[in-house]
Amino acid sequence: MQPGPEGHVAVYSKIVKGVEMEHPKEAVVLVVGGGGRCHAIVDALSRSPQVGKIYCAPGNAGIAAQAECVPLKDTQVEQLRDFAVERGVDLTVVGPEVALAAGIVDTFTAAGLRIFGPSKAAAIIESSKDFAKRLMAGYNIPTASYRTFEDYGEALEYVRKGPFPVVLKYDGLAAGKGVVIPETFEEADHALKDMLLDDKFGKGKVVVEEFLTGPEFSFMCFVDGERVFPMALSQDHKRAYEGDKGPNTGGMGAYSPLPFISEEDREYAMEHIMKPVASAMVKEGRPFKGVLYGGLMKTPSGIKVIEFNCRFGDPETEVVLPLLKSDIYDIFSAVADGRPMPEIKWEDKSSMGFVMASKGYPGPYEKGYVIEGLEDALSDPDVRIYHMGTAVKDGKTVTSGGRVLMVIGSGDTLKAAHEKALAAVGKIKCDNLFFRRDIGWRVLQ
Ligand code: AMP
Ligand code: GLY
Repeated sequence: MQPGPEGHVAVYSKIVKGVEMEHPKEAVVLVVGGGGRCHAIVDALSRSPQVGKIYCAPGNAGIAAQAECVPLKDTQVEQLRDFAVERGVDLTVVGPEVALAAGIVDTFTAAGLRIFGPSKAAAIIESSKDFAKRLMAGYNIPTASYRTFEDYGEALEYVRKGPFPVVLKYDGLAAGKGVVIPETFEEADHALKDMLLDDKFGKGKVVVEEFLTGPEFSFMCFVDGERVFPMALSQDHKRAYEGDKGPNTGGMGAYSPLPFISEEDREYAMEHIMKPVASAMVKEGRPFKGVLYGGLMKTPSGIKVIEFNCRFGDPETEVVLPLLKSDIYDIFSAVADGRPMPEIKWEDKSSMGFVMASKGYPGPYEKGYVIEGLEDALSDPDVRIYHMGTAVKDGKTVTSGGRVLMVIGSGDTLKAAHEKALAAVGKIKCDNLFFRRDIGWRVLQ
Protein backbone atom coordinates (compact mmCIF):
# COMPACT_ATOMS: atom_id res chain seq x y z
CA MET A 1 0.00 0.00 0.00
CA GLN A 2 1.24 3.49 -0.74
CA PRO A 3 1.68 5.17 2.62
CA GLY A 4 0.94 8.72 3.57
CA PRO A 5 -1.59 11.11 2.14
CA GLU A 6 -4.67 8.91 1.69
CA GLY A 7 -4.71 7.67 5.26
CA HIS A 8 -4.21 11.14 6.50
CA VAL A 9 -6.96 12.63 4.33
CA ALA A 10 -9.37 9.99 5.57
CA VAL A 11 -8.71 10.88 9.16
CA TYR A 12 -8.80 14.59 8.45
CA SER A 13 -12.13 14.44 6.65
CA LYS A 14 -13.55 12.60 9.63
CA ILE A 15 -12.74 15.59 11.81
CA VAL A 16 -13.77 18.23 9.32
CA LYS A 17 -17.17 16.70 8.84
CA GLY A 18 -17.47 16.12 12.57
CA VAL A 19 -19.38 12.90 11.97
CA GLU A 20 -18.34 9.38 12.78
CA MET A 21 -17.51 7.49 9.59
CA GLU A 22 -18.46 3.85 9.51
CA HIS A 23 -14.89 2.54 9.29
CA PRO A 24 -12.63 5.58 9.56
CA LYS A 25 -9.04 4.87 8.69
CA GLU A 26 -7.01 5.23 11.83
CA ALA A 27 -3.47 6.45 11.41
CA VAL A 28 -0.48 4.14 11.58
CA VAL A 29 2.43 5.85 13.35
CA LEU A 30 6.08 4.84 13.68
CA VAL A 31 8.10 6.26 16.59
CA VAL A 32 11.86 5.96 16.14
CA GLY A 33 13.84 5.47 19.35
CA GLY A 34 13.64 3.46 22.52
CA GLY A 35 14.10 5.35 25.80
CA GLY A 36 11.83 7.17 28.24
CA ARG A 37 11.36 10.06 25.83
CA CYS A 38 9.94 7.72 23.19
CA HIS A 39 7.76 6.01 25.78
CA ALA A 40 6.28 9.46 26.58
CA ILE A 41 5.72 10.15 22.87
CA VAL A 42 4.08 6.74 22.37
CA ASP A 43 1.91 7.34 25.43
CA ALA A 44 0.80 10.76 24.11
CA LEU A 45 0.04 9.27 20.68
CA SER A 46 -1.93 6.46 22.24
CA ARG A 47 -4.26 9.08 23.77
CA SER A 48 -5.14 10.32 20.25
CA PRO A 49 -8.44 8.99 18.89
CA GLN A 50 -6.97 9.34 15.40
CA VAL A 51 -4.15 6.88 15.97
CA GLY A 52 -4.92 3.24 15.36
CA LYS A 53 -1.57 1.51 15.40
CA ILE A 54 1.81 2.50 16.82
CA TYR A 55 5.12 0.89 15.92
CA CYS A 56 8.26 1.78 17.86
CA ALA A 57 11.79 0.99 16.66
CA PRO A 58 13.46 -0.41 18.65
CA GLY A 59 11.19 0.45 21.63
CA ASN A 60 11.68 -1.28 24.98
CA ALA A 61 9.86 -3.58 27.42
CA GLY A 62 7.60 -0.78 28.72
CA ILE A 63 6.79 0.66 25.31
CA ALA A 64 5.75 -2.84 24.21
CA ALA A 65 2.56 -2.46 26.28
CA GLN A 66 1.39 0.40 24.05
CA ALA A 67 3.15 -0.16 20.71
CA GLU A 68 4.48 -2.98 18.57
CA CYS A 69 8.25 -2.93 18.94
CA VAL A 70 10.29 -3.38 15.77
CA PRO A 71 13.84 -4.71 16.02
CA LEU A 72 15.48 -1.90 14.02
CA LYS A 73 17.98 0.58 15.42
CA ASP A 74 17.34 4.32 15.17
CA THR A 75 20.27 4.69 12.76
CA GLN A 76 19.11 1.98 10.30
CA VAL A 77 17.56 4.70 8.21
CA GLU A 78 17.01 2.79 4.95
CA GLN A 79 15.54 -0.24 6.72
CA LEU A 80 13.22 2.05 8.69
CA ARG A 81 12.09 3.71 5.46
CA ASP A 82 11.40 0.32 3.85
CA PHE A 83 9.48 -0.75 6.94
CA ALA A 84 7.37 2.42 6.84
CA VAL A 85 6.53 1.87 3.17
CA GLU A 86 5.68 -1.83 3.65
CA ARG A 87 3.46 -1.22 6.68
CA GLY A 88 1.67 1.83 5.29
CA VAL A 89 2.93 4.12 8.04
CA ASP A 90 1.08 7.48 7.84
CA LEU A 91 3.45 9.45 10.04
CA THR A 92 6.89 8.86 11.58
CA VAL A 93 8.13 10.70 14.69
CA VAL A 94 11.82 10.71 15.54
CA GLY A 95 13.17 10.80 19.11
CA PRO A 96 16.98 10.67 19.11
CA GLU A 97 19.36 13.18 17.53
CA VAL A 98 21.62 10.52 15.99
CA ALA A 99 18.84 9.47 13.61
CA LEU A 100 18.17 13.12 12.67
CA ALA A 101 21.86 13.88 12.17
CA ALA A 102 22.04 10.73 10.01
CA GLY A 103 19.42 12.27 7.69
CA ILE A 104 16.38 10.11 8.47
CA VAL A 105 14.00 12.98 7.63
CA ASP A 106 15.60 13.54 4.20
CA THR A 107 15.45 9.81 3.38
CA PHE A 108 11.79 9.51 4.41
CA THR A 109 10.77 12.72 2.64
CA ALA A 110 12.48 11.59 -0.58
CA ALA A 111 10.35 8.43 -0.43
CA GLY A 112 7.15 10.50 -0.08
CA LEU A 113 6.69 9.57 3.59
CA ARG A 114 5.36 11.99 6.21
CA ILE A 115 7.79 12.53 9.06
CA PHE A 116 8.03 14.84 12.07
CA GLY A 117 11.58 16.12 12.65
CA PRO A 118 14.24 18.38 11.14
CA SER A 119 16.21 17.65 7.99
CA LYS A 120 19.91 16.88 8.32
CA ALA A 121 20.66 20.46 7.25
CA ALA A 122 18.54 21.81 10.12
CA ALA A 123 19.66 19.21 12.69
CA ILE A 124 23.12 20.84 12.50
CA ILE A 125 21.87 23.31 15.12
CA GLU A 126 22.53 20.50 17.61
CA SER A 127 25.20 18.45 15.85
CA SER A 128 27.60 21.40 15.46
CA LYS A 129 28.15 23.70 18.45
CA ASP A 130 30.23 25.94 16.17
CA PHE A 131 27.32 26.33 13.73
CA ALA A 132 24.93 27.16 16.60
CA LYS A 133 27.33 29.76 18.01
CA ARG A 134 27.89 31.39 14.60
CA LEU A 135 24.14 31.51 14.00
CA MET A 136 23.54 33.20 17.35
CA ALA A 137 26.37 35.67 16.79
CA GLY A 138 25.06 36.49 13.31
CA TYR A 139 21.49 37.11 14.45
CA ASN A 140 22.14 38.76 17.84
CA ILE A 141 20.72 35.96 19.92
CA PRO A 142 21.91 36.23 23.54
CA THR A 143 24.52 33.60 24.43
CA ALA A 144 27.94 33.27 26.09
CA SER A 145 30.85 34.86 24.18
CA TYR A 146 33.09 32.30 22.48
CA ARG A 147 35.88 31.40 20.07
CA THR A 148 36.34 28.25 18.02
CA PHE A 149 39.70 26.46 17.62
CA GLU A 150 41.02 23.60 15.53
CA ASP A 151 44.59 23.90 16.74
CA TYR A 152 45.53 22.67 20.20
CA GLY A 153 48.35 25.22 20.66
CA GLU A 154 46.17 28.19 19.74
CA ALA A 155 43.33 27.02 21.99
CA LEU A 156 45.78 26.56 24.87
CA GLU A 157 47.20 30.08 24.45
CA TYR A 158 43.70 31.57 24.41
CA VAL A 159 42.64 29.66 27.53
CA ARG A 160 45.90 30.49 29.41
CA LYS A 161 44.71 34.08 29.95
CA GLY A 162 41.65 32.87 31.87
CA PRO A 163 39.26 33.53 33.50
CA PHE A 164 38.38 30.20 35.09
CA PRO A 165 36.21 28.24 35.11
CA VAL A 166 36.05 28.17 31.33
CA VAL A 167 33.72 26.08 29.17
CA LEU A 168 35.13 23.74 26.48
CA LYS A 169 32.71 22.17 24.03
CA TYR A 170 33.64 19.57 21.48
CA ASP A 171 32.07 20.53 18.14
CA GLY A 172 30.02 17.45 17.36
CA LEU A 173 27.66 14.90 18.86
CA ALA A 174 29.41 13.41 21.88
CA ALA A 175 26.46 11.78 23.67
CA GLY A 176 26.36 14.53 26.30
CA LYS A 177 30.04 14.05 27.21
CA GLY A 178 31.51 16.74 24.97
CA VAL A 179 31.32 19.63 27.49
CA VAL A 180 34.07 20.11 30.07
CA ILE A 181 34.25 22.99 32.57
CA PRO A 182 37.85 23.17 33.83
CA GLU A 183 38.55 25.13 37.02
CA THR A 184 42.28 25.45 36.34
CA PHE A 185 44.66 25.86 33.41
CA GLU A 186 46.04 22.32 33.95
CA GLU A 187 42.56 20.79 33.72
CA ALA A 188 41.86 22.83 30.59
CA ASP A 189 45.11 21.64 29.01
CA HIS A 190 44.17 18.03 29.75
CA ALA A 191 40.71 18.43 28.19
CA LEU A 192 42.03 20.24 25.12
CA LYS A 193 44.55 17.42 24.59
CA ASP A 194 41.69 14.88 24.70
CA MET A 195 39.61 16.88 22.23
CA LEU A 196 42.19 18.24 19.78
CA LEU A 197 45.30 16.03 19.98
CA ASP A 198 43.98 12.58 20.93
CA ASP A 199 40.66 13.00 19.06
CA LYS A 200 38.86 11.26 21.93
CA PHE A 201 35.45 12.14 20.44
CA GLY A 202 36.60 12.16 16.79
CA LYS A 203 38.32 14.72 14.61
CA GLY A 204 36.80 18.09 15.31
CA LYS A 205 36.93 21.64 16.59
CA VAL A 206 36.48 23.02 20.09
CA VAL A 207 34.31 25.94 21.12
CA VAL A 208 35.82 27.84 24.08
CA GLU A 209 33.04 29.66 25.89
CA GLU A 210 32.53 32.18 28.68
CA PHE A 211 31.25 30.55 31.91
CA LEU A 212 27.74 31.75 32.79
CA THR A 213 25.84 31.35 36.06
CA GLY A 214 22.17 31.05 36.96
CA PRO A 215 19.38 28.47 36.90
CA GLU A 216 19.06 26.48 33.67
CA PHE A 217 15.75 25.60 32.08
CA SER A 218 14.46 23.89 28.99
CA PHE A 219 12.19 25.62 26.50
CA MET A 220 10.91 23.17 23.90
CA CYS A 221 8.86 24.48 20.98
CA PHE A 222 7.08 22.86 18.06
CA VAL A 223 8.54 24.64 15.05
CA ASP A 224 7.56 24.75 11.40
CA GLY A 225 9.81 27.22 9.58
CA GLU A 226 8.96 30.64 11.02
CA ARG A 227 6.07 29.32 13.10
CA VAL A 228 6.94 28.62 16.74
CA PHE A 229 4.57 27.03 19.30
CA PRO A 230 5.79 26.83 22.89
CA MET A 231 5.51 23.84 25.21
CA ALA A 232 5.37 24.01 29.01
CA LEU A 233 8.75 24.95 30.52
CA SER A 234 10.73 22.33 32.39
CA GLN A 235 13.97 21.75 34.24
CA ASP A 236 16.29 18.77 34.11
CA HIS A 237 18.71 17.60 36.85
CA LYS A 238 21.94 16.55 35.16
CA ARG A 239 24.13 15.56 38.11
CA ALA A 240 24.03 11.99 39.42
CA TYR A 241 23.67 12.66 43.14
CA GLU A 242 21.61 14.72 45.56
CA GLY A 243 22.63 18.35 46.05
CA ASP A 244 23.57 18.50 42.34
CA LYS A 245 26.80 16.62 43.10
CA GLY A 246 28.67 13.94 41.20
CA PRO A 247 29.18 13.33 37.50
CA ASN A 248 26.92 14.60 34.73
CA THR A 249 24.32 12.12 33.52
CA GLY A 250 21.68 12.02 30.79
CA GLY A 251 19.31 13.49 33.43
CA MET A 252 18.14 12.18 36.83
CA GLY A 253 14.77 13.90 36.98
CA ALA A 254 12.72 16.81 35.75
CA TYR A 255 9.65 18.88 36.51
CA SER A 256 7.25 21.36 34.97
CA PRO A 257 6.17 24.17 35.23
CA LEU A 258 8.89 26.49 36.58
CA PRO A 259 7.83 29.07 39.19
CA PHE A 260 11.20 30.89 38.98
CA ILE A 261 10.67 31.77 35.32
CA SER A 262 8.18 34.63 35.11
CA GLU A 263 5.77 35.21 32.24
CA GLU A 264 7.99 38.13 31.27
CA ASP A 265 11.06 35.83 31.14
CA ARG A 266 9.15 33.36 29.00
CA GLU A 267 8.01 36.10 26.67
CA TYR A 268 11.59 37.35 26.38
CA ALA A 269 12.87 33.84 25.58
CA MET A 270 10.15 33.43 22.96
CA GLU A 271 10.64 36.83 21.26
CA HIS A 272 14.42 37.16 21.56
CA ILE A 273 15.54 33.56 21.29
CA MET A 274 13.12 30.92 19.98
CA LYS A 275 11.35 32.93 17.26
CA PRO A 276 14.51 34.68 15.97
CA VAL A 277 16.38 31.36 15.80
CA ALA A 278 13.59 29.72 13.81
CA SER A 279 13.57 32.68 11.47
CA ALA A 280 17.40 32.65 11.23
CA MET A 281 17.28 28.98 10.18
CA VAL A 282 14.85 29.88 7.38
CA LYS A 283 17.14 32.71 6.24
CA GLU A 284 20.11 30.35 6.27
CA GLY A 285 18.24 28.00 3.93
CA ARG A 286 17.83 25.41 6.69
CA PRO A 287 14.16 25.73 7.69
CA PHE A 288 13.53 23.84 10.90
CA LYS A 289 10.61 21.45 11.33
CA GLY A 290 10.14 19.51 14.53
CA VAL A 291 10.97 20.22 18.15
CA LEU A 292 13.51 22.95 18.76
CA TYR A 293 14.89 22.65 22.28
CA GLY A 294 16.40 25.76 23.85
CA GLY A 295 18.69 24.95 26.76
CA LEU A 296 18.56 28.37 28.43
CA MET A 297 20.04 30.00 31.53
CA LYS A 298 18.60 32.86 33.56
CA THR A 299 21.85 34.76 34.20
CA PRO A 300 22.21 38.00 36.19
CA SER A 301 22.45 39.79 32.83
CA GLY A 302 19.38 38.18 31.26
CA ILE A 303 18.32 34.91 29.66
CA LYS A 304 20.99 33.36 27.45
CA VAL A 305 21.33 30.24 25.33
CA ILE A 306 23.50 27.39 26.59
CA GLU A 307 22.68 25.02 23.75
CA PHE A 308 20.09 24.12 21.15
CA ASN A 309 18.88 20.61 20.51
CA CYS A 310 16.98 19.50 17.44
CA ARG A 311 14.56 17.14 19.22
CA PHE A 312 12.51 16.50 22.33
CA GLY A 313 14.60 16.72 25.53
CA ASP A 314 15.15 13.68 27.68
CA PRO A 315 13.98 13.52 30.52
CA GLU A 316 11.99 16.78 30.07
CA THR A 317 9.57 15.21 27.56
CA GLU A 318 8.52 12.64 30.17
CA VAL A 319 7.18 15.41 32.45
CA VAL A 320 5.95 17.83 29.77
CA LEU A 321 3.89 15.60 27.46
CA PRO A 322 1.64 14.27 30.26
CA LEU A 323 0.48 17.91 30.66
CA LEU A 324 -0.54 18.20 27.00
CA LYS A 325 -4.33 18.31 26.64
CA SER A 326 -4.42 18.63 22.84
CA ASP A 327 -4.16 15.73 20.41
CA ILE A 328 -0.46 15.32 19.66
CA TYR A 329 -1.20 13.66 16.32
CA ASP A 330 -2.77 16.94 15.15
CA ILE A 331 0.33 18.85 16.25
CA PHE A 332 2.77 16.48 14.54
CA SER A 333 0.61 16.50 11.40
CA ALA A 334 0.34 20.30 11.27
CA VAL A 335 4.15 20.57 11.35
CA ALA A 336 4.80 17.69 8.96
CA ASP A 337 2.27 19.00 6.41
CA GLY A 338 2.84 22.75 6.94
CA ARG A 339 -0.86 23.12 7.79
CA PRO A 340 -2.41 25.55 10.34
CA MET A 341 -1.66 24.55 13.92
CA PRO A 342 -4.65 23.84 16.15
CA GLU A 343 -4.69 25.64 19.48
CA ILE A 344 -2.32 23.80 21.82
CA LYS A 345 -3.79 23.37 25.30
CA TRP A 346 -1.98 22.40 28.50
CA GLU A 347 -3.30 21.05 31.80
CA ASP A 348 -3.09 23.59 34.60
CA LYS A 349 -1.17 21.02 36.64
CA SER A 350 2.34 20.18 37.77
CA SER A 351 4.41 17.20 36.84
CA MET A 352 7.55 15.82 38.45
CA GLY A 353 9.60 12.76 37.53
CA PHE A 354 12.31 10.73 39.24
CA VAL A 355 14.77 8.67 37.24
CA MET A 356 15.68 5.30 38.75
CA ALA A 357 19.14 4.38 37.50
CA SER A 358 21.40 1.33 37.81
CA LYS A 359 23.92 1.59 40.66
CA GLY A 360 27.21 2.75 39.15
CA TYR A 361 25.59 4.88 36.42
CA PRO A 362 26.87 6.98 34.67
CA GLY A 363 29.93 4.70 35.06
CA PRO A 364 29.87 0.93 34.52
CA TYR A 365 26.83 -0.93 35.86
CA GLU A 366 25.31 -4.40 35.85
CA LYS A 367 22.11 -5.39 34.09
CA GLY A 368 19.47 -8.05 34.49
CA TYR A 369 18.08 -7.22 37.97
CA VAL A 370 14.39 -8.04 38.44
CA ILE A 371 12.07 -5.06 38.97
CA GLU A 372 8.92 -5.59 41.05
CA GLY A 373 6.05 -3.39 42.18
CA LEU A 374 5.40 -1.60 38.89
CA GLU A 375 1.70 -2.42 38.86
CA ASP A 376 1.31 -1.36 42.46
CA ALA A 377 3.01 1.97 41.71
CA LEU A 378 0.78 2.48 38.68
CA SER A 379 -2.43 1.88 40.67
CA ASP A 380 -2.46 5.63 41.41
CA PRO A 381 -4.04 7.41 38.40
CA ASP A 382 -1.73 10.40 39.01
CA VAL A 383 1.35 8.26 38.38
CA ARG A 384 2.98 7.35 35.08
CA ILE A 385 6.02 5.17 34.59
CA TYR A 386 8.10 5.49 31.45
CA HIS A 387 10.68 2.82 30.76
CA MET A 388 14.15 4.02 29.85
CA GLY A 389 16.20 0.83 29.88
CA THR A 390 14.26 -2.34 30.67
CA ALA A 391 13.91 -5.77 29.08
CA VAL A 392 11.82 -8.87 29.72
CA LYS A 393 13.55 -12.02 30.94
CA ASP A 394 11.65 -15.20 31.86
CA GLY A 395 8.44 -13.19 31.92
CA LYS A 396 9.86 -10.63 34.38
CA THR A 397 10.83 -6.99 33.81
CA VAL A 398 14.58 -6.57 34.34
CA THR A 399 17.05 -3.69 34.21
CA SER A 400 18.89 -3.35 30.91
CA GLY A 401 20.35 0.16 30.85
CA GLY A 402 22.00 2.92 32.88
CA ARG A 403 18.80 4.85 33.33
CA VAL A 404 16.06 2.29 33.84
CA LEU A 405 12.72 3.93 34.72
CA MET A 406 11.24 7.36 35.07
CA VAL A 407 8.43 7.64 37.61
CA ILE A 408 6.23 10.70 37.13
CA GLY A 409 3.67 12.14 39.48
CA SER A 410 1.15 14.84 38.67
CA GLY A 411 -0.82 17.11 40.96
CA ASP A 412 -2.21 20.59 41.49
CA THR A 413 1.14 21.80 42.82
CA LEU A 414 4.75 20.77 42.34
CA LYS A 415 4.75 19.61 45.97
CA ALA A 416 1.77 17.34 45.33
CA ALA A 417 3.40 15.98 42.16
CA HIS A 418 6.63 15.36 44.09
CA GLU A 419 4.77 13.44 46.80
CA LYS A 420 2.92 11.30 44.26
CA ALA A 421 6.11 10.42 42.41
CA LEU A 422 8.06 9.71 45.58
CA ALA A 423 5.33 7.43 46.94
CA ALA A 424 5.33 5.51 43.64
CA VAL A 425 9.13 5.19 43.62
CA GLY A 426 8.86 3.69 47.12
CA LYS A 427 6.69 0.87 45.76
CA ILE A 428 9.22 -0.20 43.14
CA LYS A 429 11.49 -2.95 44.36
CA CYS A 430 14.83 -3.68 42.72
CA ASP A 431 18.22 -4.45 44.27
CA ASN A 432 20.28 -2.42 41.85
CA LEU A 433 18.57 0.94 41.42
CA PHE A 434 19.21 4.39 42.92
CA PHE A 435 17.48 7.75 42.51
CA ARG A 436 17.72 11.35 43.66
CA ARG A 437 15.13 12.32 46.28
CA ASP A 438 15.77 16.02 45.81
CA ILE A 439 14.33 16.49 42.32
CA GLY A 440 12.73 19.95 42.31
CA TRP A 441 14.74 21.19 45.33
CA ARG A 442 14.93 24.66 43.84
CA VAL A 443 11.16 25.09 44.03
CA LEU A 444 10.18 22.87 46.97
CA GLN A 445 12.11 24.53 49.83
P1 AMP B 1 25.56 21.53 26.81
O1 AMP B 1 25.82 20.13 26.32
O2 AMP B 1 26.03 22.61 25.91
O3 AMP B 1 24.16 21.70 27.31
O4 AMP B 1 26.39 21.65 28.16
C1 AMP B 1 26.20 20.74 29.24
C2 AMP B 1 26.11 21.51 30.52
O5 AMP B 1 27.29 22.28 30.71
C3 AMP B 1 24.99 22.53 30.54
O6 AMP B 1 23.77 21.98 30.89
C4 AMP B 1 25.49 23.51 31.58
O7 AMP B 1 25.20 23.04 32.87
C5 AMP B 1 26.97 23.50 31.37
N1 AMP B 1 27.34 24.63 30.49
C6 AMP B 1 27.42 24.64 29.15
N2 AMP B 1 27.78 25.84 28.69
C7 AMP B 1 27.94 26.63 29.77
C8 AMP B 1 28.31 28.01 29.97
N3 AMP B 1 28.61 28.80 28.94
N4 AMP B 1 28.36 28.46 31.24
C9 AMP B 1 28.08 27.66 32.29
N5 AMP B 1 27.74 26.36 32.18
C10 AMP B 1 27.66 25.85 30.94
N1 GLY C 1 17.89 16.99 28.97
C1 GLY C 1 18.91 17.40 28.08
C2 GLY C 1 18.76 16.91 26.72
O1 GLY C 1 17.76 16.36 26.32
O2 GLY C 1 19.71 17.07 25.96
